[in-house]
Amino acid sequence: MDTLPPVGLGTMGVEDPSVVETALDVGYRHLDTAQIYENEAVVGEGLAASGVPREDVTLATKLWIDSLAPEDVAAGTRASLDRLGVESVDLLYVHRPRGGYDPEGTMAALEDVLDAGLTDAVAVSNFTPAQYEAAAAHLDAPLLANQVEFHPLFRQERLLDHAAEHDYTVVAYSPLAGGEVFEIPELQAIAEKHDTTEAAVSIAWLCQYDRVVTIPKASSREHLEANRAAADLTLDPEDVERIEGIDREVELFPE
Ligand SMILES: NC(=O)c1ccc[n+]([C@@H]2O[C@H](COP(=O)([O-])OP(=O)(O)OC[C@H]3O[C@@H](n4cnc5c(N)ncnc54)[C@H](OP(=O)(O)O)[C@@H]3O)[C@@H](O)[C@H]2O)c1
Repeated sequence: MDTLPPVGLGTMGVEDPSVVETALDVGYRHLDTAQIYENEAVVGEGLAASGVPREDVTLATKLWIDSLAPEDVAAGTRASLDRLGVESVDLLYVHRPRGGYDPEGTMAALEDVLDAGLTDAVAVSNFTPAQYEAAAAHLDAPLLANQVEFHPLFRQERLLDHAAEHDYTVVAYSPLAGGEVFEIPELQAIAEKHDTTEAAVSIAWLCQYDRVVTIPKASSREHLEANRAAADLTLDPEDVERIEGIDREVELFPE
């Protein structure tokens, strides 16, 4: 897998394959789904209908906590591939370190899934630095990414040092705080200054960090295009400082 593009498509809540098709038409090349979203078939259908070659797209899914016991990992992965209608995915995540998850056993099972060619790479989501290190210690292959909640109301600056130290990508989820970014006065002011939207400011702010890519969910062509274009917006250093100074915290997906 090459490096992930700065903006991919989050698909939680996407129930219409035409959204995925439109995203691919607009230029998205990273699709993020999960077993728990119950839409892997929808994502696979959109990908197949798009005409974009499978090898041009980074397709990611996540094993839910009931597929993480070592004896369940391979069957869970195969079930996802069946629903997606593909031979393999590019990125397979542990969605959360819970349920049947056990660093040693789950990682050994994921190593077997890698060896069987069912995924190109393994990653984790919602892992603390300590949990990341415990997982990495039991995997010969690199753990390519940690997907975490990351937006102007829930920042992850400290994780970025860990990512640099251990050479992995941070995939920022809920970059628009599920829509709350429009209500943040600091973002409203920065958006006005750059003649853009709070959504674009949030995405641009995430993309200015090394090692961070993001996966906003959007449904309309207009939102899809705007979110992808936002990666090209350059914020001023004082804008970044202002966002990093927001003292309100909202975590949408606590443990
Ligand atoms: N790993 C995990 O545990 C985890 C947890 C949560 C989410 N995620 C991933 O992260 C993805 C994104 O997170 P999210 O879905 O929670 O929220 P989000 O991306 O922060 O926000 C999505 C919301 O913003 C709206 N929106 C998108 N672009 C917009 C624009 N340019 N202008 C105005 N509104 C816009 C969308 O509406 P429309 O749909 O109408 O465009 C939708 O209501 C998920 O889909 C999923 O793939 C992962």
